[in-house]
Amino acid sequence: MKKILVTGGLGYIGSHTVVALQQKGYEVYILDDLSNAQYFILENIQKITGILPYFTKLDLCNMPELQYFFSQNNDFEAVIHFAAKKSVGESVQKPILYYQNNLNSLCNILLCLEQFKIKNFIFSSSCTVYGQPDELPVTENTPLKPAFSPYGNTKQIGEEIIFDFQKNYADFNAVILRYFNPVGAHDSALIGELPNGVPNNLMPFITQTAIGKREKLCVFGDNYPTADGTCIRDYIHVVDLADAHLLSTERLFEGKNNEKIEIFNLGTGKGSSVWEVIKSFEKVNNIKVNVEIAPRRDGDVTAVFADCTKANEILGWKAKKTLDDMTQSAWKWEKKLRIRN
Ligand code: UD1
Repeated sequence: MKKILVTGGLGYIGSHTVVALQQKGYEVYILDDLSNAQYFILENIQKITGILPYFTKLDLCNMPELQYFFSQNNDFEAVIHFAAKKSVGESVQKPILYYQNNLNSLCNILLCLEQFKIKNFIFSSSCTVYGQPDELPVTENTPLKPAFSPYGNTKQIGEEIIFDFQKNYADFNAVILRYFNPVGAHDSALIGELPNGVPNNLMPFITQTAIGKREKLCVFGDNYPTADGTCIRDYIHVVDLADAHLLSTERLFEGKNNEKIEIFNLGTGKGSSVWEVIKSFEKVNNIKVNVEIAPRRDGDVTAVFADCTKANEILGWKAKKTLDDMTQSAWKWEKKLRIRN
């Protein structure tokens, strides 16, 4: 059984990927510092898969501890690296925290890969690297724009670090996955998104408003040059994302990669407006959301959605879940979470 290390494995996308890997028979080890994740997710992964993943609480910025961990567990076939800070707004207020955390942890992991001769690496990147592209949909060759936030910059720099690192570690293979807007939750509603404090992102704000935790959902701007005036994003179900990580890992295992570092966009290829997301949520869950139109939010781009032809043709991956699946599973998870708390 191949051993795979997942950093940030108790986080939102990480936990869904751990489930997908375990269900395919891989032996999963998780590193997570629990700074934006909760321990019960580990138990819930076990409830879904019947297997408790190995777990070590560890901050990847702590190099001596990380090296010790690898010295005790040095036979990983791949590392999937999710662990990172991810709040765009917080990154503007605390840029150094973001550079220090996201880049140090990446460098430390890469150094360990070389030291312990681990060849396969999957990196979580983001559509934020494209900024507001001149043409839509966005392909992997669309030129990158200067990042809008320190968070986005850590993703751009992170990608560059991986390319530079590869030049001196010939056996190293990586897949860089650029996620569009991950939403939704596992069908079991045992794992899902757990935002810290007031959510920044649309879907958890919708579900928290619907359940009464927030008074109202502010729609940030309804005068954009789009059909209904609200911004357009490519929302992608987290379970589809998890499958893409599984396929990427197996592609590396099978040595099928055409290049040492491959980049894939992960979205549905279809843009949805803020109104469309709200309408889908209200329709499939038969519940009204208290909505108010608010001014535009700084830094929001009008529209961005992916061309996923490359992931489709090369990785054999295609998003299967619809927007309705996303809004339905997000609501199921929110309701279960409230019963728990
Ligand atoms: C941001 C990040 C992206 C990251 C994603 C998921 C940027 C520019 N974007 O995307 O990299 O992958 O989060 O973590 O770095 N909205 C409202 N009301 C709300 C919240 C959001 O109207 O209360 C609107 C926003 O204006 C936007 C859309 O909903 O049009 C989606 O916003 P959000 O969920 O925050 O994601 P992004 O900003 O697109």
